[in-house]
Amino acid sequence: MSAVEASSQLVVGDAPWPKNHWYVAAYSHEISDKPLARELLDTPVVLFRDSRGQLGALFDRCPHRGMPFSEGEVVGDALQCPYHGMEFDTSGQCTHIPSSQMIPKRMCVSAYPVQEQYGLVWIWMGDPDQLGPLPDLARWGFGRADWHWEPAVCLEVAANYLLPLENLLDASHITFLHKGQIDQGLVASHPFEVTVNGTELRVDRVLEKEKQSPLTMKTFGFSGDTATRSIIAEAFLPALCGIRVEIRPDSDPDQAPQVNQLAVGITPRNRKSCYQFTAVAQTFPFINEQRNEDLRNLLMEDVAAMESIQRLHERLAPDLRPEFSVKSDEAAMRARRILARMIEEEA
Ligand code: FES
Ligand SMILES: [Fe+2]
Repeated sequence: MSAVEASSQLVVGDAPWPKNHWYVAAYSHEISDKPLARELLDTPVVLFRDSRGQLGALFDRCPHRGMPFSEGEVVGDALQCPYHGMEFDTSGQCTHIPSSQMIPKRMCVSAYPVQEQYGLVWIWMGDPDQLGPLPDLARWGFGRADWHWEPAVCLEVAANYLLPLENLLDASHITFLHKGQIDQGLVASHPFEVTVNGTELRVDRVLEKEKQSPLTMKTFGFSGDTATRSIIAEAFLPALCGIRVEIRPDSDPDQAPQVNQLAVGITPRNRKSCYQFTAVAQTFPFINEQRNEDLRNLLMEDVAAMESIQRLHERLAPDLRPEFSVKSDEAAMRARRILARMIEEEA
């Protein structure tokens, strides 16, 4: 297929995001009575648990004189500002002013809805009247008694969120960027099928009689000769991607496939950086004891590439950075168009 010029409205490297959605803010285990500062969707946020374990997510700025709450501490059921000691509860309401008995009702700060599920903490920073359900991780095996699942690694990426999102939808890069680790050179040119359903995208590849690569064998405990491997990349726009790998050994084609599902919450920090929160679910026990280290090393190759692209994007004038898309970019281009529409609909 000949190269075609990209024609999306969203510019990779500087793309905005839809606001009325759940985004991953942290792992559950990161949030305690020690306030955690995090920049999310261009907004400073402080996350904490009060003495009852209740989760709070507040705009990280004291309305009194602008001190970051995240430099304070949790006192009982409130977060205490370190400057003059005013206290605010998880609803954002001030509950104590040391110098006054009277607490004005407007002495409050924005509090964001938060929910925890499968070790991930999700935050809603859009219009509270539009609050919807969390993305469904159960469909990927999370929470199922017969599966094994756990939070994995968080990466900070100095690149616009659209870069990792497109990277995860585009398995063709694994042949080159991750040379030999999870592919023997066949994926880049292998046929694939893209399915779109509303704001959900899915890209399927099935590789038959494929000799497996070192990291795949280590993850699956596979020691056979060849196997049929399905690679399914999915995106639930705007905040969640998944990569599912299913292996069925050719020596036992009737065996149910072993499934390894990676879930990746992609959360913009600002226009030029984002977080990737990963979690893994699989149908078989975790046998690779270095799995988080291996996953981090693999994903850091993507991160390095995303950050190089971002740096160049920022250095060059718009007329010097055209993009020409090819067949393997189909899912990414469709994701861009859907995201552009979602943003437009919120305007
Ligand atoms: S700045 Fe927070 S209490 Fe004064
Ligand atoms: Fe990758």
